[in-house]
Amino acid sequence: MPIILAIETSCDETSAAVLKDNLVLSNIISSQLFHTEYGGIVPELASRAHISAIDKITNSALEKSGIDKKDINTIAATKGPGLIGSLLVGLNYAKSFAIALGKDFIGINHIESHLYSCYIENKKIDFPFIALIVSGGHTILFLVNDFFDYKILGQTQDDAAGEAFDKVAKMLGLGYPGGPIIDKLSENANENFHKFPRSNIKENKYDFSFSGIKTSVLYYLRKNFYNNGSVNNNNVPVNDICASFQKAVVQTLAEKTIEAASNFGVKNIAVSGGVSANSALRKELNKHSAEGYNISFPKPVYSTDNAAMVGYTAYLYSKYSSEINSNKNIKEPAFARFNYSDF
Ligand code: KG4
Ligand code: ZN
Repeated sequence: MPIILAIETSCDETSAAVLKDNLVLSNIISSQLFHTEYGGIVPELASRAHISAIDKITNSALEKSGIDKKDINTIAATKGPGLIGSLLVGLNYAKSFAIALGKDFIGINHIESHLYSCYIENKKIDFPFIALIVSGGHTILFLVNDFFDYKILGQTQDDAAGEAFDKVAKMLGLGYPGGPIIDKLSENANENFHKFPRSNIKENKYDFSFSGIKTSVLYYLRKNFYNNGSVNNNNVPVNDICASFQKAVVQTLAEKTIEAASNFGVKNIAVSGGVSANSALRKELNKHSAEGYNISFPKPVYSTDNAAMVGYTAYLYSKYSSEINSNKNIKEPAFARFNYSDF
């Protein structure tokens, strides 16, 4: 039974978790709230904050789990994609930990760990399934045939959906991260207040583009609410604009996901990543349960970046690694399986 210590520092959350098999014993997350004053993440400050927090967060995770360091078998850490300076902090901390204690080390792909976050403390998802991973850095649609056997169907060609939420929130002076704020403000607002354009990519119907929607919000604000070169916030129907923007993003995500499921004849769908916490997206996708789709979302705590999902992916690797290595069908994506010796 593997006991795993997992570390996640790909962006602006410093997180450590301890798992015994697939059971999460602790999952400590510290969010770097100071980025709010800059309206977005400042990478250099993010890495410095990880350095200050990592040891304390790891010790809290160990303490809360009741597991002694010497009983850990495997140390897992996010190896990318993410902010390079932030990743280096967690990776090097985890590798040093592994070297010092003579434990195994495994580097985990961040996108893959979001994908498996749906499994944690949740109902089983039968293969094959369509996975939508939608976060601040990624918007990707996969066909998942088995553990670690995927085909990428489409992805964003410009901004990620979460990035569009963050940028629109910044335009409206709402703070960072924008997704949860826009979600909250949209609750009782008019989502039909203005129709922002939905984008379609001709080359691949499963690809996404969100920069057009984001820019159309900017032009709409400029055209209707700019006064002497700046937006007059008092006159802006902020909540209705948030709800209308959110509707455009949510409809795009939901339509493409359902279209992929329908075209591939797949009834199971898993949606993960920070934007999967969005209440309108959950509602919109859940409407399709009536057509026989089983839709899974991670528990809210596992939607945004956290180390438990890193540990869970490491657990799956340890469980299925012999099968993975012998499975000739696994050709893509290039989610390279990193080992100790790769660093
Ligand atoms: O997965 P995550 O924590 O980090 C990345 O891997 O990027 O996702 C963060 C993103 C941010 O863009 C944030 O605005 C968005 O997820 N987000 C949301 C919500 N909660 C977080 N977007 C829409 N609605 C939410 N409730
Ligand atoms: Zn993430």
